Formats: sequence, C-alpha cells, structure tokens
Amino acid sequence: MPRATPILTGTLLLCVATLADAAGTDSIVQAWPTRPSVRDAALEARVEAALKGLSLRQKIGQMTQPEIRAITPDEVRDYAIGTVLNGGGGWPGQDRNATPARWRALSEQFQAAARQATPGVPLLWGTDAVHGHNNVRGATLFPHHIALGATRDADLVRDIGRATASAVRASGLHWTFAPTLAVVQDVRWGRTYESFGADPALVRRLGQAEVEGLQDGLAQGRGVLATAKHFIADGGTRRGIDQGVSHATATELAQVHGAGYLGALDAGVQTVMASFSSWTDSAGYVEHGKMHGNAALLTGVLKDRLAFDGLVVSDWDGIAQLPGCTVDDCPAAINAGIDIVMVPFHWKPFIANTVKAVEQGRIPMARIDDAVRRILRVKFGVGMQPAVPATVEAMQAPELARRAVRESLVLLKNRPGLLPLRPTARVLVVGAAADSLPHQSGGWSLTWQGRDTTNADFPQGTTLLAALRQRLGGPQVAFDADGSRSDPARFDAVVAVLAESPYAEGEGDIRITDNLRHSRRQPQDLALLQRVAGRGAPVVTLLYSGRPLYVNDLANHSDAFIAAWLPGSEGAGLVDALVAPADGRPWPGFTGRLPFPWPAGPCQFSSHEAKPWWPVGGGLSGKETQAGGKLLPEPADPQPICPL
Ligand code: GLC
Repeated sequence: MPRATPILTGTLLLCVATLADAAGTDSIVQAWPTRPSVRDAALEARVEAALKGLSLRQKIGQMTQPEIRAITPDEVRDYAIGTVLNGGGGWPGQDRNATPARWRALSEQFQAAARQATPGVPLLWGTDAVHGHNNVRGATLFPHHIALGATRDADLVRDIGRATASAVRASGLHWTFAPTLAVVQDVRWGRTYESFGADPALVRRLGQAEVEGLQDGLAQGRGVLATAKHFIADGGTRRGIDQGVSHATATELAQVHGAGYLGALDAGVQTVMASFSSWTDSAGYVEHGKMHGNAALLTGVLKDRLAFDGLVVSDWDGIAQLPGCTVDDCPAAINAGIDIVMVPFHWKPFIANTVKAVEQGRIPMARIDDAVRRILRVKFGVGMQPAVPATVEAMQAPELARRAVRESLVLLKNRPGLLPLRPTARVLVVGAAADSLPHQSGGWSLTWQGRDTTNADFPQGTTLLAALRQRLGGPQVAFDADGSRSDPARFDAVVAVLAESPYAEGEGDIRITDNLRHSRRQPQDLALLQRVAGRGAPVVTLLYSGRPLYVNDLANHSDAFIAAWLPGSEGAGLVDALVAPADGRPWPGFTGRLPFPWPAGPCQFSSHEAKPWWPVGGGLSGKETQAGGKLLPEPADPQPICPL
C-alpha cells in the first residue's frame, strides 16, 4: 500500500475541508425559504449605464460612508463620496439645537457636492431615527420598540413609520437605520428596548409594518429608506453581551432571528445592516465568527437565497472587528457581502486601502460592481426632492404618539377599583423621573445615550407630572420628588414614577456580576416607596425601563404596578390610562400585553423562563373585580450573583 505523500494528504484534507465548508454553507442556506428575484428592466438599464460611467475611485466613493463630523461638502466632491451618516449625538455644526432648516441646508450642500463628482448619482444621508427623528430638537419622540411590541398594533406601527419618515424628510435626510428586528433572548442586553419582543411572529408582523410605513411614498419624496438590522441574531448573544456571540442552530437562525427579515423583505426593505455580533452554530459548535465577515449569511442567504437586491451596510467601524482587518482596511468584509462601509472617521485611508486591494486583486472587480449596482439600484428608487416642509411641525405627531403610549402600558398589579383615578382626585406625585423627559425617553434621544440632556432639550415634550397637572388641575396635584416632605394621607392617591437611568447599546448591558433587581441599581426607588406606602393613600407605581426587571420588592410596596417602558415625549398618554376620561367616555383600561416574560426572580433574564411572574402576553385590564395577587415572594439573599 503506497504511503500517501504529504502533498496528497494535504490536498485530500483541503478537499475534505472545502466539501465540509460547502456542506456547511448549504445547510445554512437551506434552512431558509427561497424568494423570487424581481427586477425592473428599465431600472436595471439605468443602473448599468450609470455604473459604466464610474471610475474605480468613484465606485469606492459610493461604498464609503463618513460621519458628518468628519467630512465637508468639498471633501464629498473631491472624494466622490456617495453617502454620509450622523451618529447618535451628531448634528449639523455640532449644534444640538440645529433647526430642520439647518439640517436641510447641510444636506443640500452634501447633495450638490456629490452631484458635481458623480453627475446623476445622488447622495444618501442616513440617521438613527429609531423612535421618531430623535436626533433633532423638537421632533416627537415615540415610545421605543419594546413599548410598541406591547401594543401588538401593526396599524399603529405603520402610522408611526409614516410619521417618522415625514420627520426625516423634513430635515432633508433620506434613510433611517431602523427597524431593529432583534428577537431578544436575554434581557440583560442593553438594546432590549430596541426589540419588539421575544415572539418571532410579533417581530415579523411589526417589523413589516414599520418598513411599509417608513418607505411609503419613497419615490415621491415622502418616505425614507428603511434598514433591517442587525443581520443577524444581534439579540441572541450569550448573557445578553452586546456585540457578543449568538449560539443558535442554522434553523433557529432562520426561524427565530430571521423572522423579522422575512417580514421586512415582504415590505420591500431596501437596506440591511450587518450585526456586530458573531454566530456559533450550536448544532456542531462551529464558530462562524463575526457577521461582518460571514459570506454564507450576507451573500448566500440574504442576497442569493432570499433574493435581496438592495444594499448591505456595515455597522459603525464594524469591519475593524474582523480578523486581519483594521478600521480602514478590510477586503474580507467587502468580499463577504458588505456593500457600503460605515467608516465614520477613517474614510480617507479606507478609500486608499480599498482601491489598492482591488488593484492587487484582493477584492474582485465583480464584487465592487455588484456592490455599486446595489447602491445605484437603491438610490434611483428614492425621490430626492423632499415632499415635506423643513419645519418642526412636520416632525411632530403628538396625538399618534400619545395613543401609542396609552396602548403600550402593561398593568402587572392592581387593587380592584383603584383605577382609573377620578378627575376630581387629589394626587401626590413622587419620583424625580415623574418630571424628567430624559428618563421618559431613554437612549437615542437627542444624544446617543439619552444622557446629558434636560427637559429644556425637549420643548415639544410633556412629562407625566405636567400632563397630570393639565388633566386634574394644578391645585389637585402635588409633587415631592423624594416623598420626604408630604403626608400621603392628605391625598386620594400617590403616583410614584421609578426609572432606569437612560442608556444605549452596550452601556446598558446588565453585567453577569449583576442581576435584574431594579432596586440594586436604583436603591432610591425602593426607599421612595418605603417612605410613601401604607401611609393612608394607595400607591400607583409606574416604571420607566428598557426591559423587564425584577421588581417584587417594589410591587410589594405598590397597590398598582405599571410597566411603562420608555414612553417618549408624550406623557399625556400615561394620564389617559391613569385617569377616567373627562367627557364621560368609557375608560379604555390597560390594553398593553407583555412582549417579554416579566421575571419572578432576579436571575430570570431569559425570554423563555418557565415560571415568570407574568408570561409573554400577560397583563391586567384594570377592570378585574378579583383582588390582586398576594404579596410576591422575595428571595432570602436579595443580591444573588446569577448562575452563568
Ligand atoms: C451604532 C449601532 C447601529 C447604528 C449605527 C449608526 O453603533 O449599532 O444600530 O445604526 O451605529 O449610529
């Protein structure tokens, strides 16, 4: 038996590995349904003609997305840049008070510069309008996605998409990086509130509705480009660690984490954002690495199997996380299927490095042409002249937001007959968050983290306190932030507002050394309730949070407990649920139902807890006649470190 030579062995091993890889890719792709490819011949001809007219540098300029703080209109012209973004906390002239007219003026400057460089090819400006046009002063802030999930109301979400598109167009922009379609598995994740919930079917239904609303009238200058994000399994990372590793089978990837994308594709979504996270196939424990470099999913599944003919944009410097890549040089990401690279500040070396990579054959020209075809196909479908005036009013939809707030509230505990409060009630309001629009709005609200802002930054907003005063009359409403200077017995009810401190992305992750007990991070909230409970007036507690939290100690000091999520600018929607209608119309009660399980213990952070306090879909109407549950159990050790 002749001994196999090392070359033969190596070749055999390479063949086996390639076959295994092909088999692996096949199993990944075949877990997904097929979708028909639909092309418009006239559009394709226009795309081909424009592509032919572009040099390599112009093509790479189309694929480069700088941040507005790092580029001038002249540089847009000189480098033939095809798209820009403003990140959270990025405003024209770095002025948080920039008016819609100033946003629009800068956009028009970028647009004119781009057209000088590449005549006939427009520039796109993308932004994170994730709960209204939240980067612009004066815009209505809608409840975050987790609250919209509690409404389960697709028509409402579609209308919010339309209103958001109007606001984005008023500012002269064309593209929002929304909706997030995460199906969150561990609520310790700091982005849980950007998700519609734990039910893939709900995420699909509401995600489709939001894309339909956002892109309605796209060609006519009313709608904006939507972004299905973050592809894929951003909400599945272990322990909810932001940008971490999602363990899922190929089937779970398609049927759980992919549900929202099927809805978004049905709605004709034109852009998809790659996820920072990584994927490990839990069937064979195969590590597939960072999504930004995953060709099987970005190209094999999304572009081939699902026939997505729009563009894939990377996340903020996401290419830098790939092995062998840097923030300004990553052929692997482009070869995997990234079409536009979000390279906020290092865009000049990125362009030089990418041109060189093409010239050296490390990125095939065919891949560049495919990326630019996709970019041109998307651009030519956008009506570039806004059909919306550049006014603050065009960015506002307070009544729609107010309805969304009311429909999103979930009543977790109640004392029969306590709600609704009578219009003649005398109410003591406690909790600093009752008069704080930053706490009421959460992250992605004028600033990225939703911090470093005050009520004065939100002139359009109404806090719960202000709304209650408007509804009941000032003399009937007292405010005592820490409850230390009042006698509850002098009032018909106490309304207590508790809140998480605003956060966004990884800064909101609850670390594995911590747990879900809210009073662990906000001890003043428990102290507040201990100060006012059982002192002659019932206590109605509202919690502003971006996720379900362990609140047994707080609920045990409340007669009614309401999950209020992150309501946004329209506090009147809260009062619509708390107080009987003034005109005698029947009180609607509480219609919100939980999009995630509500934990019964400080370590119940999974979306699949067997015995939560309330399951997905749980919540009271407020019209029950049976007395609410007994005191909730509290664990012996109030601060357990949760099992890994
Ligand atoms: C952020 C987020 C992404 C957002 C992008 C631009 O890091 O991950 O959701 O769209 O950067 O702000």
